[in-house]
Amino acid sequence: MKGIVVEGGERLVGEVMVSGAKNAALPALAAALLVEGTCRFTNVPRLRDVETFRGLLEKLGARLHWRGKGELEVDTSSIEGVTAPYELVKTMRASILILGPLLARMGEAVVSLPGGCAIGARPVDLHLKGLEQLGAHIELEHGYIKARARRLKGARICLDIPTVTGTENLMMAAVTAHGTTVIENAACEPEVEELALILKEMGAEIDGAGTNVLTIRGVKELRPARYSIMPDRIEAGTLMVAAAVTGGNILIKGCRLEHMEAVLGKLRETGMEISPLGEGEVRVVGDHVPRSADVKTLPYPGFPTDMQAQFMVLMTLANGLSVISETIFENRCMHVSELKRMGADIRVQGSTAIVNGVPRLGGAPVMATDLRASASLVLAGLAAEGETVVSRTYHLERGYEDLEGKLAALGAKVRKVDLNEDLGQQE
Ligand code: UD1
Repeated sequence: MKGIVVEGGERLVGEVMVSGAKNAALPALAAALLVEGTCRFTNVPRLRDVETFRGLLEKLGARLHWRGKGELEVDTSSIEGVTAPYELVKTMRASILILGPLLARMGEAVVSLPGGCAIGARPVDLHLKGLEQLGAHIELEHGYIKARARRLKGARICLDIPTVTGTENLMMAAVTAHGTTVIENAACEPEVEELALILKEMGAEIDGAGTNVLTIRGVKELRPARYSIMPDRIEAGTLMVAAAVTGGNILIKGCRLEHMEAVLGKLRETGMEISPLGEGEVRVVGDHVPRSADVKTLPYPGFPTDMQAQFMVLMTLANGLSVISETIFENRCMHVSELKRMGADIRVQGSTAIVNGVPRLGGAPVMATDLRASASLVLAGLAAEGETVVSRTYHLERGYEDLEGKLAALGAKVRKVDLNEDLGQQE
């Protein structure tokens, strides 16, 4: 079992570059299914989830090759398969993103139902309802979604909840449908806007990218595109909290700060100095004793649920009481019990955490339960006195490109270990 050992107490100083966004790269790869030919994506992060998606596309007959750092070539000239098997989907829910484009391309798609995951039930009913409105015939059989449609037809779809991957799936299904589709109450996350821009590069006709109403006029076919994936706003936010909890002073390069207003606002409320320097660079300087600030996770442009666990770590060290409400996912407070083992004072009531800041955290063995919880435990380790051993960090590798390497370059004492060998523990 892989893990990360952090010796806390080092102040982070230096420069760091943000990687490409996982949640933009995965839909980009899915969109490649809509064209016959070779798409080239640059600034693609090298992550476990990207590799899983690559495996999925290869299973369908696509050929994917890394060409130099961050450049991924996706050749979808010959797609034969229509099935995303349970073994792959269960490791990565975002596999559901192939449903829309595969159905549009092949007239058929068979995708395993994602099932429950560590952060709650996470249903896909809105993806399916929307596809049915586009004329797909959908059956659920033996744990699989079986979708069929000769050619999808444009429709007016009003989403009950602005689901991110749901909006993306429906947008990809609609771009080659017959007629016009309007998606109301669409997700406005920057990654959804990015997918619209990629599809437009491919020849799609989409109005309203980045807003909650998307109008998509179906075209007969799309062409291959080249596209550079946007920087990861969640990684940038995680690095900012790393500076905050260590009283650090770091220069973060390659950010799109316009995507981070809610997070920047909250970090400033805690006393952090954030100075944009132009050209995607920002200097962040942490305050040794942050002020408390309440947070409620919301769809974009609200505070992202993917930053909730990291922000909570900062609040465990704040001067006063803060209330953190999770409104997007159930069961997304699993990092709380681990943070408490490090000395944090947190009470959870339903989906709200009440955090009473303490002067310091103490290193402890802790276990990661999901991607963002893993990041939060590493952050807590950076701030804590003594050694923190975070186990099950394979979650971290799903979504962060070399986070431990980046933190180490900023002066953190952090290293990857094989816990069975190095620490004599059993999986
Ligand atoms: C995406 C992101 C994830 C982020 C989340 C919220 C990717 C690959 N993942 O996940 O990192 O945490 O957005 O910003 O981009 N819902 C339904 N029915 C559906 C679909 C969703 O009820 O058919 C609910 C979910 O249970 C949840 C809410 O809608 O409560 C939002 O989920 P959604 O936006 O779909 O999250 P994902 O797209 O899975």
